[in-house]
Amino acid sequence: MLALAGCGGSQDALDPHSHAASDIANLFWVMMAVSFGGLALITGLLVFAWVRRGRRGFGDPDDPHPGERASWFVVVGMGVVFPLMIVAALFIVGNWAILNVTQAPAASSTDMTVDAVGHQWYWEFRYPGTKAVTAGELHIPVDTRVNLVATTEDVIHSFWVPELNRKIDTIPGQQNRILLYSNKVGVFRGQCAEYCGLQHAHMGMLVFVQPKAQFRKWLRQQASPAAPPQTSLERRGEQAFLSGPCASCHAIRGTPARGFVGPDLTHLASRTTLAGLTIPNTRGYLARWIADSQHFKPGNQMPDFHLAGSRLDALVAYLESLK
Ligand code: CUA
Repeated sequence: MLALAGCGGSQDALDPHSHAASDIANLFWVMMAVSFGGLALITGLLVFAWVRRGRRGFGDPDDPHPGERASWFVVVGMGVVFPLMIVAALFIVGNWAILNVTQAPAASSTDMTVDAVGHQWYWEFRYPGTKAVTAGELHIPVDTRVNLVATTEDVIHSFWVPELNRKIDTIPGQQNRILLYSNKVGVFRGQCAEYCGLQHAHMGMLVFVQPKAQFRKWLRQQASPAAPPQTSLERRGEQAFLSGPCASCHAIRGTPARGFVGPDLTHLASRTTLAGLTIPNTRGYLARWIADSQHFKPGNQMPDFHLAGSRLDALVAYLESLK
């Protein structure tokens, strides 16, 4: 049961690292405690009735069918009023108290903004005020209130990092906000939580929570244009990228490539994963991804270009140089 429920791993809503996530975890434990309390009560009453079966009930000793006339207290009190009170109390705690706490605060009360844009099937992250654009992996500073603005380029997705806050849907033509905050340096996994097509399950993200100075350095580096190729192999790779079909779908800032169908590749080599966390970002996987991305992620928008041999080697060398 624990394995089927996906217990363990790094997407653990019961291991909260923000105020909002702690309240959500507490809500889970309160709901759990009340549910098990109710279950114990009902089970106890059933056992009690079974043990006392056949005995005469309370009330009239001349009643030929003892126990068949249940008292009003049992039917109305325990059957209607008591459960209604419990459900109403849980409703107030869950929908009023917790929803208010996890509601996005005024943007002016936050320290910075990050845009999360859903695509079939990867997350794009933008840092307004800078040119930084990344995909799949988002960086934020620790102990900082981040105003996360969620939008979509296509269908409805849902941004969810269980250890940091609740879900927020991305709706076409609308901006939804949520507070992203972490009290701990580390890496947190998130996942698209709204079915959005064939590769919905392969639409993960990583949130890297960094010390503030380290984050500022990362952001400066991500905002800068791509480094020009150094070796002749990399130069041939750049040529292959710009003259081939790649540039019509991907952008590399600092070059003429300005496509916006696929992820921005300006600092591709600085990421740890590819394709919405489907595969690690290593030379071997990158080459196999370019040659046959449909094998890893059937239905994704990158067609098979039958790239192979020295052209593929040069392309991989160039992309791996984009630190
Ligand atoms: Cu995007 Cu599910």
